[in-house]
Amino acid sequence: MEVRVAILGQGYVGTTLAVGLERIKAGEIPAWGVPFGFPKDFLREPKLTDIKIVHSIDVDEAKVGKTLYEVAQQYFPNLRIPETLKEVRVSRGIHLGSTRGLPLKARGLEEETSLQDAVERIVSEWEKAKVDVIVNVITTEKGPGIGNWEKLVEAIKKGGEWEGGKLPATYAYYYAAMLYAETVKPVAFANAIPITLARDEAAVNAAAQRNSIVLGDDGASGATPLTSDLLEHLAERNRYVKGVVQFNIGGNLDFLALLDPERNKAKETTKSSIVKDILGYDAPHFIKPTGYLEPLGDKKFVSMHIEYISFNGAVDEMIVNVRINDSPALAGLLVDVIRTAKIALEHGEKGTIYEINAFFMKNPGPAGAKSISRIVAYQLLIDWLLRHEALEKIPRYSVHTFIEDLARLRKLA
Ligand SMILES: NC(=O)c1ccc[n+]([C@@H]2O[C@H](COP(=O)([O-])OP(=O)(O)OC[C@H]3O[C@@H](n4cnc5c(N)ncnc54)[C@H](O)[C@@H]3O)[C@@H](O)[C@H]2O)c1
Repeated sequence: MEVRVAILGQGYVGTTLAVGLERIKAGEIPAWGVPFGFPKDFLREPKLTDIKIVHSIDVDEAKVGKTLYEVAQQYFPNLRIPETLKEVRVSRGIHLGSTRGLPLKARGLEEETSLQDAVERIVSEWEKAKVDVIVNVITTEKGPGIGNWEKLVEAIKKGGEWEGGKLPATYAYYYAAMLYAETVKPVAFANAIPITLARDEAAVNAAAQRNSIVLGDDGASGATPLTSDLLEHLAERNRYVKGVVQFNIGGNLDFLALLDPERNKAKETTKSSIVKDILGYDAPHFIKPTGYLEPLGDKKFVSMHIEYISFNGAVDEMIVNVRINDSPALAGLLVDVIRTAKIALEHGEKGTIYEINAFFMKNPGPAGAKSISRIVAYQLLIDWLLRHEALEKIPRYSVHTFIEDLARLRKLA
């Protein structure tokens, strides 16, 4: 079962995804970091080797027109880049000012033609590439949701005018994806950035009406899922959390982009949703990216402090420090976001799928859905995969293995 993937934003995450995937497919490296990938591929179909990156979009002049092989050389100068990446060339996308404030020269299709034409050009490229899944990993954008589909149609007609400012590029791409779904075939749009999309009713309805899927929002890859699991641990033992501090400092372009207060706010919103959702009360918290330090590169520094009250009024503290390679953390997860998206499409699912979002995303859609711990979300996802007959074998000791074991033990007793 082939899965044909289009990438939006051929940056650190997009390029790590392309390189890592080809190296796994070539048998050069094991699939560590892909949830259902190793030691055995637990998914029946699609296999890792079924994923093909067939289209890529960026707006950075240093990337547009280059092959993924050449772009990968910019990121990994000391690595042997898979030759297969020479087959895809980065196309120009829609800019709408999404890289403002960043040290790069960017130009969008809308500067040479109308926004409507730009959208149609992208749709026809996706059509030629027969895309199934679109993965959004462009620079962090902020947006409260589309709200009303007609308003989006109007904004596209008006060249991107939106609420007194510019339409976020993500919403223009989403409009293109829905046009593709209408005129070519159903598609899955995975929104791995903080902008609201899978939590937006208008976006989810638009996908559902076109037998398509939107997943999101914001990939949950580093410190936030770890914090969510620690909070679950405390909540299950009824320890009262007095406060949570979690900060990140990194040296990649995304951390530089997050110095912009608007973008930082978007990230803070998706990161902070876990506290109340998991604990049931809103413990005071400070959870956000806090700084940029170039020498850290892609390997961010994360520090976490949780203070809580235990039995008999005892006050405990948890302090965790980690250095996390930021882009591989998300790229590995995206491999299985892509595969689960394809499984959902094959089963004719539409709208958004909470079971997928809850495990992979920081702020899972649909609107109003809770951000649960990843330990719990993993079990939900296993259950979803079982219902779709997508697993060859249940990985690890899940609730389902436990229930099977219990039945066996009862028979023995
Ligand atoms: N672990 C992680 O790295 C992680 C986790 C969760 C979410 N994210 C999100 O993933 C996204 C990408 O992160 P990154 O580290 O790869 O950033 P990056 O800056 O390296 O890459 C972003 C790429 O998008 C391109 N871009 C910007 N605007 C565009 C547009 N309008 N159209 C097409 N391309 C555009 C940029 O030129 C750049 O190549 C960010 O939004 C970030 O919030 C990352």
